[in-house]
Amino acid sequence: MASTRGEFSSRFGFLMAASGSAVGLGNIWGFPTNAATNGGAAFLFAYLILAFALAYPALMAELIIGRHARANAVTALRLISRSKRSRVLGTIVGLTGILTVSFILSFYAIVSGWMMAFFFDPLARLMGMDGLAKWLTQDAELRNSIFALLFMALTVFIISAGVKNGIEKWASRLMPSLIIILLLLILYVFTLPGATEGLRAYLVPDFSRIADPALLVDAMGQAFFSLSLGVGTMLIYGSYISKREDLPTIGGLVALLDVGIAVLAGMLILPAMYVALANGVEIFDATGGLIAGPGLIVSVLPALFATMSGIGLFVGVAFFALMTIASLTSSISMLEVPVAYGVEHHGLERRKAAIAIGSLIALISLVIVFNFDPLFDLVVTYTTEVSQPLLGFAFCIFVAWIWQRNDILSEIKQGSPEVESGLFWKIWPFYVKFICPVAILVVYFQ
Ligand code: PHE
Repeated sequence: MASTRGEFSSRFGFLMAASGSAVGLGNIWGFPTNAATNGGAAFLFAYLILAFALAYPALMAELIIGRHARANAVTALRLISRSKRSRVLGTIVGLTGILTVSFILSFYAIVSGWMMAFFFDPLARLMGMDGLAKWLTQDAELRNSIFALLFMALTVFIISAGVKNGIEKWASRLMPSLIIILLLLILYVFTLPGATEGLRAYLVPDFSRIADPALLVDAMGQAFFSLSLGVGTMLIYGSYISKREDLPTIGGLVALLDVGIAVLAGMLILPAMYVALANGVEIFDATGGLIAGPGLIVSVLPALFATMSGIGLFVGVAFFALMTIASLTSSISMLEVPVAYGVEHHGLERRKAAIAIGSLIALISLVIVFNFDPLFDLVVTYTTEVSQPLLGFAFCIFVAWIWQRNDILSEIKQGSPEVESGLFWKIWPFYVKFICPVAILVVYFQ
């Protein structure tokens, strides 16, 4: 089995894949709006601290377990367990992660489908197909189903091709494009009236908010979701890293890329909102706060693009291409979790596993589309606010309390022989053992 497992062919490939997983709707949509409603740069500040002090150590836990075990989460957690009881716990945590990430993908596909529909809208208008354009932008069950299915089909297509020819190849193409589109959009929006005001709303800190528990809870949830933690995604990507790689460094680069792109996205979204305001678009909701939910992406920004005359069409295409790319590089990392389990644990063939599991998740998406009001928020809340932090907690426990310290050290040493004398080994073991679990629980019970 081990010889047929995929492996990333280069450090660049892994970095693009892992940062592609991390950078998603959470960065480009979640982070800027969270910052805007939580005291601007005060949120940014709390986020930076939590991302590096809590999320990075948890990310390292998953990468190290994954690379050591060279297997999916269930097999990996069982492998590092020494007692029967912790093996059972490993199975439970691994399977809960697989289930959680599958449900995350089921709602992610719906939202990503909206992004694809809005991507085609300016193209339809450019070709004079106004009727189609209208259909694309109107919230309806049929449109939502078709685009969620289309998005899942793309995800399945990439995952079927495997680690090197699917995940790595596509992430290496899509992530650089994402960064270029993001930078171009920022530069353009900065030239428009109102942008500096948006930048001010984003970057001027309201430090009276920094000790606000709600801000800390939001910042931690944001950091965990954004780094794709707790559900075995980073563990499975870690399992495809070469033994020669220096894990603390590449984990740090992934965290930096994730945080960097979130910060950059804030420099696009908030200035764009204030440009929209200057153009007469309503950007505040009934309570006086900034519109942050779906309304932001599917009404405020399209309304802004519509006020830009001709160039608005191109800006719209670029923006929704950005969103779709960000979604796709994340969704493939989600589907890889159950697929790898199916392949390794149940001997399924990869392509068949991808199609079967992808179809099952697509079916869940359809159930949510047709029962949107009762189900959508419920699934989001249970997966991202309840399950993800608890699983993150469990991973820390596994690595720090169940796995043996010497085994961990020798795993990291394979790619970074000097690690024992460095800063990482002085701080990280203590961190995952005490600080991370306690902090996660404290914030969780807020
Ligand atoms: N990190 C992704 C985002 O920010 C979401 C994600 C969560 C991806 C869990 C994989 C696993 O959008």
